[in-house]
Amino acid sequence: MPPFLPVVGSSLSPLALVKHLENKILIDGKLILPISKRTFAVHNPATMETIGQAAEANEDDVNNAVESARKAQKEWKHMDASHRGRLVSQCADLLEEHSDELARLETLETGKALRTESQVEVRAFANTFRFYGGLGLELKGETIPFSDSMLTMTIREPLGVVGAIIAWNVPLFLMSLKVAPALVAGNSVVVKSAEEAPYAVLRAAEIMNTILPPGVLNIISGDGPGTGTALVRHPHVAKVTFTGSVDSGKAIHKNVNEKLIPITLELGGKSPMIICEDVELEKVVEGALVSMRFTRQGQSCTAASRIFVHESIFSPFLELLKEKVNTLKMGDPMNMETDIGAVISPAQHGKILNYIEMGKKVPGAMAHVCSELPKDPKLAKGLFIQPVLFTGLPNSHQVCQEEIFGPVTALIPWKDFDDVLLQANDSVYGLAATLWTNNLHRALMGVHRLEAGFVQVNQNTVVQPGLSYGGVKSSGVGKEASLEAMLEHFTHKKTIIFNME
Ligand code: NAI
Ligand code: MG
Repeated sequence: MPPFLPVVGSSLSPLALVKHLENKILIDGKLILPISKRTFAVHNPATMETIGQAAEANEDDVNNAVESARKAQKEWKHMDASHRGRLVSQCADLLEEHSDELARLETLETGKALRTESQVEVRAFANTFRFYGGLGLELKGETIPFSDSMLTMTIREPLGVVGAIIAWNVPLFLMSLKVAPALVAGNSVVVKSAEEAPYAVLRAAEIMNTILPPGVLNIISGDGPGTGTALVRHPHVAKVTFTGSVDSGKAIHKNVNEKLIPITLELGGKSPMIICEDVELEKVVEGALVSMRFTRQGQSCTAASRIFVHESIFSPFLELLKEKVNTLKMGDPMNMETDIGAVISPAQHGKILNYIEMGKKVPGAMAHVCSELPKDPKLAKGLFIQPVLFTGLPNSHQVCQEEIFGPVTALIPWKDFDDVLLQANDSVYGLAATLWTNNLHRALMGVHRLEAGFVQVNQNTVVQPGLSYGGVKSSGVGKEASLEAMLEHFTHKKTIIFNME
């Protein structure tokens, strides 16, 4: 097989792509076998069949990847910023041409439904590259007035080699949020993919490497404590950007602090949705359906996992929401009629079921179990979970305080607006929050008081290129997805003074 597939216009089956990518990492523009010679198995969560092996990069592989990135960055950073942007925009176009195969490959490894999730994500993925591709000329500095014979100014310089560590829930989109701004700003990147979902990211990078100079974008795979730690501790990694759990974020933060380099952390949430009594019921139920991200099995950092409903509409809201969730079809993620796929791993499956059991044991609590498990015998071993709406749990309960990352939402009635804001803020997380009302005074009071980095009224859209996105409290450090994210997190300002007296 040639080192690169003829990428333009190709549309290969996901399993053929896995065969091509199996055991490989991408360094210096080439798909290669790792020095470690170690591999690990990757599963299809919908069947629990092994789809292939992935390379487990060791310290030598990490060194190679970082060295390749370091060499490439020396030229890349001196390329005109607009030209770097143009190359990144070309990547967006080529990735879009490959959106079908990328979506299928991602569905195979993540168990997410193709129509409701992977196809939607791949569009956002390409759009992120397109958005940042147009921002090369925004890498501007300032001039500062001193005297006529002096010129004092700042310029934006790249940081160097960026180490990016990503999770499995939206692997392609997470890759774009990190890689696109880093590259346009003149950095080179080494991405460590998530163990559960290494292939779509590797294929996307292979496609991009037909456009980018070799070494500018490298991909390795492997576990967190081994491969991930080696990457973040590497002396030539100048910036770390991470999306994942709070615990892993803390471990990475500690390692990065030893080197005193900048870090961006996106660590999830326990996002509140507050519904006032003046809303139109049908519309807000549709909004809740989208907000809970049940079509992604709740595996979303901005999922509304606590819904506070005004007590006067609590019962009709619950009934209508149950009705809507029951219409969602769980099944083979590749089938275009499927709304809900499988959760990512046996570990997550067990963790989610454990939370559901914990909630059920609380006196007065009720688990409203919705939708139906798939009946297809091919999916008998698949990691499917029926969505659960809990009532009767207090906000202080673990189910309402800890990130479950599964299709589990707690509905909590409220009557006093000040009190519901306190409850919404009573969380270690502060990523996203939504407020549903047509009362302008309440809307304004709410958006100013909610402790979250991303607050929306009467909608709950996912992250959009152009809008700064990032959390407060334990939800993380720094912003993503925006111009600000590129400038503040992937460059530093150099101050320069000319004295021509
Ligand atoms: P995780 O945080 O352990 O894994 C995410 C990534 O971090 C993977 O690439 C992993 O290899 C890497 N990693 C883990 N430990 C590391 C370390 N010490 N040094 C360097 N890299 C490291 O998340 P996991 O175990 O897959 O999921 C556990 C929980 O995390 C979920 O139940 C969910 O609550 C949360 N999570 C949040 C996400 C978000 O979007 N904020 C995404 C995925 C998980
Ligand atoms: Mg973990």
